[in-house]
Amino acid sequence: MNVDRILDHPDYNLRSSSRLSARDEPRARVWLDRDDPLYGVFLRIRNQRAAVRKEFYEAAFLLDRLDPELRRATRLWEMAAGHGMFGLFAALLHRPLEEVVHLDKRRPLSYERILELAAVDHPFLKLRSRFREGDIASGDPIPPDALVVGLHCCGSLTDLVAEEARRSGASFAVVPCCERRALLSPAARATARGDDLPRLVRERRIERWQSWGYAIEERRLPEAVTASAHILIAKPRIAPSAIAAGADQSRARTSSAKYVNETSGSARSRTAASLSP
Ligand SMILES: C[S@@+](CC[C@H](N)C(=O)[O-])C[C@H]1O[C@@H](n2cnc3c(N)ncnc32)[C@H](O)[C@@H]1O
Repeated sequence: MNVDRILDHPDYNLRSSSRLSARDEPRARVWLDRDDPLYGVFLRIRNQRAAVRKEFYEAAFLLDRLDPELRRATRLWEMAAGHGMFGLFAALLHRPLEEVVHLDKRRPLSYERILELAAVDHPFLKLRSRFREGDIASGDPIPPDALVVGLHCCGSLTDLVAEEARRSGASFAVVPCCERRALLSPAARATARGDDLPRLVRERRIERWQSWGYAIEERRLPEAVTASAHILIAKPRIAPSAIAAGADQSRARTSSAKYVNETSGSARSRTAASLSP
């Protein structure tokens, strides 16, 4: 597959929220060979009211941009997974992936539908894909060798995903969105302009994750697909166990800091504290 080829067709709206249908077929053939397993899945899910064009293309571009990491991964945790297309397609295309866990508060019907349709030709998907309904913050232990991915984790959800990955020192990749002023420290908030917010929050996050022991790399999704185009990839540059130990110490500190903030009555400063090392 060469998903970037679709960008040569600017008349085709990649941000469309219409359901995939037969009308999308000629465009799918622009970048998918007919024997590509993803093309087969596309044929199964189109016309079934199962998948939205924008979400399908976001998943496809993220698969492409994270290809080097996915090739090496044996476990994938897809956080705030929603329909779960990214994880399902990763399991389809990367056979060494033994386990894909999709975690979300709510298991949507679209996940079931896409899995059922894809499994007609690829029944192994039902063995590899597991949807866990629950809160990311519930602290389910993530294996240190898992790749943790969060696509469009709004606001502080991105930070929650990073914190959960840190608890085991796992690599993670996030595509943040909906950056809010409350994510910045009070000092930074005072001078931040609206159009600068995503950059300021991103820089603060990068500093923070580097201080935990991660090396950070940035890649991009095309603007034609999404306005939230930054992919931040964090890989341990120290032993994962050392990153996890830092998380334990920080939790102990944060719980007393939280108490101080709570007694001073400032819920906002608790949010800001979440972007401190
Ligand atoms: C903007 S959607 C992103 C869904 C999918 N990753 C995508 O890109 O289409 C955010 C998802 O996060 C989930 N979510 C929000 N807070 C959560 C939490 N604390 N724990 C688990 N899932 C959460 C929502 O249920 C929703 O499916």
